[in-house]
Amino acid sequence: MSLLSEIEPLKQVALEQLKAALDLAALDQAKGAYLGPHGKFTGLMKQLGTLPKEERPDAGKLINQAKIDLEAALAARRGELELQAALPKEPTDFTLPGRRHALGKLHPLTQVTEDIVRSFRKIGFAVADGPEIEDDYHCFDALNTPADHPARDAQDTFYLQSPADAGPSMLLRTHTSSVQIRVMKKQTPPVRIIVPGRVYRRDNPDATHNPTFNQIEGLYVDRQVTVGDLKGSVEFVFKDLLGADTRIRFRPHYFSYTEPSFEIDFSSPLTRKMGKEWLEIAGCGMVHPQVFENVGYDPEVWTGWAFGFGIERIAMIRYGINDIRLFYENDARFLRQF
Ligand code: DAH
Repeated sequence: MSLLSEIEPLKQVALEQLKAALDLAALDQAKGAYLGPHGKFTGLMKQLGTLPKEERPDAGKLINQAKIDLEAALAARRGELELQAALPKEPTDFTLPGRRHALGKLHPLTQVTEDIVRSFRKIGFAVADGPEIEDDYHCFDALNTPADHPARDAQDTFYLQSPADAGPSMLLRTHTSSVQIRVMKKQTPPVRIIVPGRVYRRDNPDATHNPTFNQIEGLYVDRQVTVGDLKGSVEFVFKDLLGADTRIRFRPHYFSYTEPSFEIDFSSPLTRKMGKEWLEIAGCGMVHPQVFENVGYDPEVWTGWAFGFGIERIAMIRYGINDIRLFYENDARFLRQF
């Protein structure tokens, strides 16, 4: 049989083999057998020289054409096999439930805090913070809170070190008011800050108490600040937060770091839903001159107001939640609702 007549049948066998390759390894093996350095077509090429001169061009053309066809078949089969390898091994069951990507969201307390902060930002307040592990000076003494005040009792405060030990007693802050002192000691007036933060008290958990909760403190110091400024600011924020039909009222109260001092009540459709016209919501007052003395501000020049309220309480009223402990249980069924 002449070389010329071998080409076509060999090509057909090679094409069959390439098309029949069941995986990429088999395909590479077939490629080597025909097109590799020791492959059959490479061998034919080498034998061209042994042909009579007039047969060489035709034979060369046939071999080259065969190689082109084989390369094309090779590429086509490689594409099929690669696609097959990328497909899942098991057939897809389109009736299976889908895999959802659960979208996280902010905790309701974080949402309420951010809303309060946003309201105060509108009237020029900046956010400040301070340590949760405090000393008794910043938490009590500097705030004009005398040693015999009940808040200082070991029954009410988490001390990290006995008050009887030498040096400052370290404790978990019972309110965010300690940050008033830290900020005023660091900066000169005017001051316009709010302080959201975690606070701690020795309370047994029940529907309205938890040993850890969150407060937001406000402090405004400038020349000629009045109770009217305090009332106006609080009213603006509460209407912004809880609706335009929200009303507030001040009742005289006592705090050692403000004089005069007030408790703030508010009334809105939300309070009526909870069966009450007025709900107590915050403590506030005009910064006590002694507090200014303690931080090195001249009380003859500077005046100011301060307030503090519980974030949980606002969130409970806003969302109609009747047990504070729900905020801390991290039950997704509860959290998903906000
Ligand atoms: N610190 C008080 C509390 O925890 C709240 C408070 C009352 C803060 C009056 C103030 C204030 O800044 O002036 O109950």
